[in-house]
Amino acid sequence: MSWLVTGGAGYIGSHVVRELVRAGVDAVVYDDLSSGLEQFVPEGVPFVRGSILDEELLVDSLGRHDVTGVVHVAGYKYAGVSVQRPLHTYEQNVTGTQRLLSAMGRTGVDAVVFSSSAAVYGTPPTELVTEDTPKAPASPYGESKLIGEWLLRDQAVAEGLRHTSLRYFNVVGSGAPDLWDASPHNLFPLVFDALAAGRVPRINGDDYDTPDGTCVRDYVHVADLAVSHVAAARRLDAGEPVEAAYNLGSGGGVSVREIMDAMAEGTGVDFTPEIGPRRPGDPDRIVADGSLAARDLDWQMRHTLLDMVSSAWAAAPRG
Ligand SMILES: NC(=O)c1ccc[n+]([C@@H]2O[C@H](COP(=O)([O-])OP(=O)(O)OC[C@H]3O[C@@H](n4cnc5c(N)ncnc54)[C@H](O)[C@@H]3O)[C@@H](O)[C@H]2O)c1
Repeated sequence: MSWLVTGGAGYIGSHVVRELVRAGVDAVVYDDLSSGLEQFVPEGVPFVRGSILDEELLVDSLGRHDVTGVVHVAGYKYAGVSVQRPLHTYEQNVTGTQRLLSAMGRTGVDAVVFSSSAAVYGTPPTELVTEDTPKAPASPYGESKLIGEWLLRDQAVAEGLRHTSLRYFNVVGSGAPDLWDASPHNLFPLVFDALAAGRVPRINGDDYDTPDGTCVRDYVHVADLAVSHVAAARRLDAGEPVEAAYNLGSGGGVSVREIMDAMAEGTGVDFTPEIGPRRPGDPDRIVADGSLAARDLDWQMRHTLLDMVSSAWAAAPRG
């Protein structure tokens, strides 16, 4: 009996794999290494190099490793780029999920935890996003994640799939010094790259309707996120009820200026960020209510903003 983690060689998936192992759950990594790194797969954990588009390889892997559930993390995650690459995004996130669910149906694997995203909400017109906040994705990426959730829902009706979707907000930090976020578009790697190159990081706009004028976002630590995936897998294994979706958000939120202050403190690089113009479409504030996940999935903010910065900086590759 084991859990297969698609995308288990990526930033979030590798943390989920380590948490499964820590919890005594056998894990298998299935990843095409399109953005992941084989070195993120722990020793002793079976690794299948393959795409979620390859249904036959999925069928073979699910059977060969006696899989009982899947944490489906693999996906194409760049919301901004997805506007230029909608077909690629849909292929990876929708067709890939459809093939995975088909392979699961063929092999009798009936439990899945899905990596969804805050992007399903678009720009929510509310102070605090709950799971019931209307879905209004603003990119092919957000749309593809919402369709992924619908595929799970529909397979539950058709074949009794047991499922939950975890809607991540801004995932940062590192749970181990040898795991990092290699994304070229995320705030933390961008700021680190700027600091390493001697450039001054920039804040895009300081005239938003927030306490310090900079945008407020919901940052969560990847290690806390991983704990909730294992809790979800355990509930599914035990046949306990789960919600169709959970927000993994802090309920609080921090401003970009607060992040920059934490960056200076956590990296030891003293800098004053430049203030640039607003970016079109950036909402003032997006903060999520994580209380459902706290109730069911052991979701807690166990790390401070400074922990998030310091751990990510310690793990970030240099040079
Ligand atoms: N990082 C965030 O802040 C964030 C926020 C919301 C949702 N998510 C979602 O979480 C998931 C993981 O994000 P991440 O930050 O770890 O990204 P990542 O790029 O580090 O990880 C994705 C992993 O999936 C693998 N992969 C991609 N396409 C694949 C395919 N067709 N077949 C097999 N493997 C494939 C990649 O090689 C990589 O290892 C994604 O689905 C993303 O949409 C991330």
